[in-house]
Amino acid sequence: MKFHIETWGCQMNDHDSEKLSGLLVKEGHEPVASAADADLVLLNTCSIREKAVHKVYSELGRLREEKEQKPLLIGVVGCLAQQDKEAIFKRAPHVDIVLGTMAIKQLPKLVGEAAAGRKRVIDTQEYPDNHLFPPEVTQRSSTAKGLVTIIEGCNHACTYCVVPTTRGPERHRPVADVLGEVQGLVQRGYREVELLGQNVNSYAGGCSFAELLDRISEIDGLEWIRFTTSHPMNFTQELAHVLVANSKVAPFLHLPVQSGSDKILRRMGRQYTSAEYLERIAFLGEGRNRLSLSTDFIVGFPDESDEDFEATMRILDQVAFDASFSFVYSPRPGTPALKYKDDIPMRVKSERLARLQARQTELTFQSHRRMIGCVLQARIESHEPTEAGHWMARTGQWQNVHLKAGEDSTLPFGELVSVKITGAGPHFLTAETL
Ligand code: SAH
Ligand code: SF4
Ligand code: F3S
Repeated sequence: MKFHIETWGCQMNDHDSEKLSGLLVKEGHEPVASAADADLVLLNTCSIREKAVHKVYSELGRLREEKEQKPLLIGVVGCLAQQDKEAIFKRAPHVDIVLGTMAIKQLPKLVGEAAAGRKRVIDTQEYPDNHLFPPEVTQRSSTAKGLVTIIEGCNHACTYCVVPTTRGPERHRPVADVLGEVQGLVQRGYREVELLGQNVNSYAGGCSFAELLDRISEIDGLEWIRFTTSHPMNFTQELAHVLVANSKVAPFLHLPVQSGSDKILRRMGRQYTSAEYLERIAFLGEGRNRLSLSTDFIVGFPDESDEDFEATMRILDQVAFDASFSFVYSPRPGTPALKYKDDIPMRVKSERLARLQARQTELTFQSHRRMIGCVLQARIESHEPTEAGHWMARTGQWQNVHLKAGEDSTLPFGELVSVKITGAGPHFLTAETL
């Protein structure tokens, strides 16, 4: 069969799609670039906010029309599949397969059954060994950065969040497995890895997360280690030290704060106060200046007063985040926060979001301007120059770089090069090769 996978959501889903693709290729199926050419379409879904769910159902509507024209198997996998289970068949009767996040290794079996004519095949069980996946099967979409799962699931219980339900409790991959996968990637030419988990710094697969970073960094040929994402309460002094001191750990930290108001943080079940969050950032000491810090915010959580929102604006300035992702609160099925009334008018939520984002753009621009004149390493991310004549690259701090190279020079895709930052905008840096 020819198959096509559409992916929404976070890096966890991007990587799951690489695993799903590998499972199908192993069975002899062939990946194609569009649903129009496929006999099997898988939607790898996200349900973190309502908007993400709408997108999936509207794509399912479009695929129904496609399925009227030609034989087509449709599968829904990922977080929405895990959350809605059989209800997906009710809302979209033309769906053939529903596969949960903790059962992805069952994909070939389900596809086989659906291809044999069985209707509505589903598996949303929690297989306890789902986090153990043979790395050689994974079909990687990036040839520059290798994604590596170290932990699945989440043991926190933030009151607004579906992830503990859609991804289950924490399961940790053993250290030897993780090291083996990274070694294999480096042998195949990868120079950068990104360690994945909903909360990587609670890693306990045989050592602490900080120690895991140190052990991975000993692998010869590896240049950068990234990781996503982290919970502030599991951000230790030990980890801050490794982040600052180990030159193979990319100088970037994404540490979601969500709100600056202690009342809202308590209601969100985040287990820290704004002061405790600032203490964690202070673990970085002087190293903070070398690092890029990013965060997530939710605005308009139930009962968020003007004062609460001002506290969020304050912490944004106090930390001077280099980047942030911010969202309007979206009530989610089955979450404890549903007991609070979603009482902030949409107009107020939108105004708050716009203010926060406008301030972030200024802060990002300032942080970019501070880099003008710096000489640093950036990884080439394009195979050829853009129409505007520059190459795309990315710094260890995760900034986009528009790189000018000599007229006829070709820059090596995936390699680190030394660059000098010559200019800055709010969304990218400009630079020249040295
Ligand atoms: N494990 C990660 C979060 C993954 S979800 C962590 O704790 O950092 C990514 C972001 O989506 C969260 O940080 C939060 O800001 C946002 N988010 C999660 N649930 C949400 C909801 N119900 N409404 C709005 N934003 C939400
Ligand atoms: Fe969701 Fe909180 Fe877990 Fe992050 S730490 S995945 S926000 S429950
Ligand atoms: Fe979405 Fe699931 Fe990731 S809900 S953000 S795809 S863990």
